[in-house]
Amino acid sequence: MNISKCNNVRDIRKLAKKRLPKPIFDYIDGGSDDEETLRNNTESFNNFELIPNVLRDVSSVDTKVNVLGSTIDFPFFCSPTALQKLFHHMGEIAVAKAAESQNTMFGVSSLSTTSVEDISKIVKSPKLFQFYYHKDKSLNKDMLNRAKAANFDALALTVDTAVGGNRERDLKSGFTIPPRLTLGSLMSFLFHMDWTLNFLFRKFDLPHLSKFHKNGSSLKVNVGQYFTEMIDQSMSWKDAENLRSEWNGPFCIKGIMSVEDAKKALDIGATAIMISNHGGRQLDGSISPIEQLSSIVDAIGGEIEIILDGGVRRGSHILKALSLGATACSGGRLYLYALAAAGQIGVEKALINIRKEIERDMKLMGVNKISDLNSKMINKKI
Ligand code: FNR
Ligand code: LAC
Repeated sequence: MNISKCNNVRDIRKLAKKRLPKPIFDYIDGGSDDEETLRNNTESFNNFELIPNVLRDVSSVDTKVNVLGSTIDFPFFCSPTALQKLFHHMGEIAVAKAAESQNTMFGVSSLSTTSVEDISKIVKSPKLFQFYYHKDKSLNKDMLNRAKAANFDALALTVDTAVGGNRERDLKSGFTIPPRLTLGSLMSFLFHMDWTLNFLFRKFDLPHLSKFHKNGSSLKVNVGQYFTEMIDQSMSWKDAENLRSEWNGPFCIKGIMSVEDAKKALDIGATAIMISNHGGRQLDGSISPIEQLSSIVDAIGGEIEIILDGGVRRGSHILKALSLGATACSGGRLYLYALAAAGQIGVEKALINIRKEIERDMKLMGVNKISDLNSKMINKKI
């Protein structure tokens, strides 16, 4: 199948699976432990049903929303994800250009394979920098200053990675940063020669970390070890508050799941929270974002922006979240499969598909603008 024929995330995922060596595909696709949370993140959307209205003149719809200080054309943006040049040789640049073409925001990870400087030279649309809080405070300072100097529009502090999740697919495949050829994975790399040659002949770097790590760009660890060894487990609300004031711009806390924490995020002056369990890659058995959304909206809705992150695969998922009171949604795998399948064109296709679904479903729901969606338009199955 060709990317232009892919109508949904399922089709695009199949293409990605064909293109990538198994250890790389599994790194994107997998979750922690038994992957219960990974599965539930998407399946839980089925516990909610949309209730449409009719005869409302839906000849025009406006899908724009404001989030983290920027206006984006439709209520979905690309969550920050690590290591994108492993998925396609253009990596972050492909995602950034695709997001710009659709006028939505995209996140750049602390573990990106392209620097904030190179990204901001090429792309002018809204950009969010994702911040991992390391033990090494000079590394933190350097990253923050670089994101500021590169004119990033917003900062997201990820708070659900005190230690690495137990990602058993990665343990089995021996996935490391950068990937190593192991005896077990050798065949998979040989059968994906396009990918393997691209990887072998291009420079792989983690430009925000390299000068602060003893092995330079080559961490030679798995992602779990990176978290466990480099992230500051003693990070507290006070540190988050300090970071917010140092950044002094739109600030988001990524990885909030409890009502109590959502209130604390409001107290420290965050602009937004991302309700997220890291796409089911960290604490398996944790509740899905869509299941937790209403309680958080009841507590702090209207006082802080609420971004639902995780499990989104369809426009209707986004309309459900917005009806329950979310400001916008974000997601990772939805566009990462597309990046792996076809680079920038792939990500554009994935974003266009989701955008069209949002537009079509808004018309079918009888609404003209995002703010028309409300809690009367959604039912929770018991
Ligand atoms: C991620 N995610 C992530 N989050 C983050 O804060 N920093 C990061 O570097 C990464 N890296 C990363 C890599 C890969 C391959 C995936 C799949 C995810 C989590 C990401 O931002 C987001 O929270 C989830 O992807 C949301 O779940 P869905 O949309 O993939 O279901
Ligand atoms: C992940 C990272 C790096 O693999 O956040 O989920």
